[in-house]
Amino acid sequence: MAPRDPILGITEAFNADANPAKINLGVGVYYDDNGKVPLLDCVRRAESLMMEQSAPRTYLPIEGLAVYDKAVQELVFGADSPVIQEKRAITVQAVGGTGALKIGADFLKRFAPEGTEVFISDPSWENHRALFEGAGFTVNNYAYYDAATHGVNFEAMLADLKSMPQGAIVVLHACCHNPTGADLTSAQWDQVIAAVAERGLIPFLDMAYQGFGSGIAEDGAVVRRFVAAGGPLLVSNSFSKSFSLYGERVGALSIAAGSAEEAARVLSQLKRVVRTNYSNPPTHGGKVVATVLNTPELRQLWEAELAGMRVRIKQTRDSFVAKLRERAPAHDFEFVREQVGMFSYSGLTKQQVEQLRAESIYAVDTGRICVAALNSKNIDRVIDAIAKVL
Ligand code: LMR
Repeated sequence: MAPRDPILGITEAFNADANPAKINLGVGVYYDDNGKVPLLDCVRRAESLMMEQSAPRTYLPIEGLAVYDKAVQELVFGADSPVIQEKRAITVQAVGGTGALKIGADFLKRFAPEGTEVFISDPSWENHRALFEGAGFTVNNYAYYDAATHGVNFEAMLADLKSMPQGAIVVLHACCHNPTGADLTSAQWDQVIAAVAERGLIPFLDMAYQGFGSGIAEDGAVVRRFVAAGGPLLVSNSFSKSFSLYGERVGALSIAAGSAEEAARVLSQLKRVVRTNYSNPPTHGGKVVATVLNTPELRQLWEAELAGMRVRIKQTRDSFVAKLRERAPAHDFEFVREQVGMFSYSGLTKQQVEQLRAESIYAVDTGRICVAALNSKNIDRVIDAIAKVL
C-alpha cells in the first residue's frame, strides 16, 4: 500500500469521519463564513453566457484554448510585458497548477543536461518533491523557514542559492508561501533575482495563490521582476483558489524564452509533453476563466470577489490571534497576523495535530492550518481545542 497523500489524504480521513461537527483545516480551499466553498458570481454569470451560446465540445488544441492562453499570459506577465511584445512568451493551458508543474518538470527533464538537480524550499508544498522526483530529478532543499522567528531565514536561503550548481532548477513560491505563509520582502526578492542570474539558475515560479496576498498585480509583481532581469523563466499558475474552480482543474504553464524562434521550439516540445500525457486539456474551466478575464464587467466583478476572500482571511487571522490571546495567554500567536495567503504554519507539533484529529479537527501533520476554512461559527471550537492541546 502506498501511504496516504499528506494533504488530500487528510480530506479522505475527514470525509470518512461521521462527526457532524468535524472541521477540515487541512487542504488549501477557501470556504465562506457559512463554511461553504463559494461559487463566484463572475463564474455563475460567465456560465450563463456560455449556456446561452451552448457550443459543441470538440477537442481543444493541444496547448489549450487560444483566448484562455492569451488572457492568462497577459495576467501572468502583464499585458505590456516585453516578452509578449517580442513574442517570446509561451502559455499552455494545464490541468490545474499541479498539471502545469508536471508539464514543466517533464519538459525540463527531457532537455536539461544530465545530472541537473531541482531545489525546493525547506519546507515546501508536499507535492513539489514528489512531482519533480516523479519526473526523474534529484530534489534538494534550500533553507527557507526559521521556526524560531516564524519568518524566512534569508541569509541561509541566499547562501544556499549562491552555492547551487550552475543551471540548477530552483522552485520559488511567487507569493503566499505554501505551507509557511512567510513571504520574501521586495528587497529580498531583488537579492534572490540577482543570485539566480549570477549562478545561471533556472527559476520555476509556482503561483497558485495570486490575489490572496496583497492583490492580483502586487502578488504577480515578482514575475515581472524576473522578466526584467532576463534569462529563462517558467511560471505555473492556478485558478483553483482565485476563481474557486478547484474541481475544474484550470491552470497554465507560461515560459519566457530568449527569442521568438526559441519560443516556437519550446512550444512544439511542450505540445509533445501534453500530447503524451493527456492529449489536450478540458474545455469548461478554461472557457469560464477566459470569459471572465476577457469581459471587462465580469473581470471587475472577479477582482472584487477575490478581494472579498482576501479580506475575510485577514480578518480571520486577526480574530484567531485575539481569541488565542484570551484562551492561551502563555502562547504568542501574533506571527499569524504577519503570515500571507491561505495558510498558517501554526507551530503545532505532529502530536498536537493528532490530538486535534481526535476531536475531528483536521490539520496537516506539519502544523499547517488553512485559515480560510475558519469561520465565525467554527472558530471558537478550534480555538478551544488548540488551547487544550497547548
Ligand atoms: C494545498 O496545498 O492544500 C492545495 O494546494 C491543494 C493540494 O493540491 O495540495
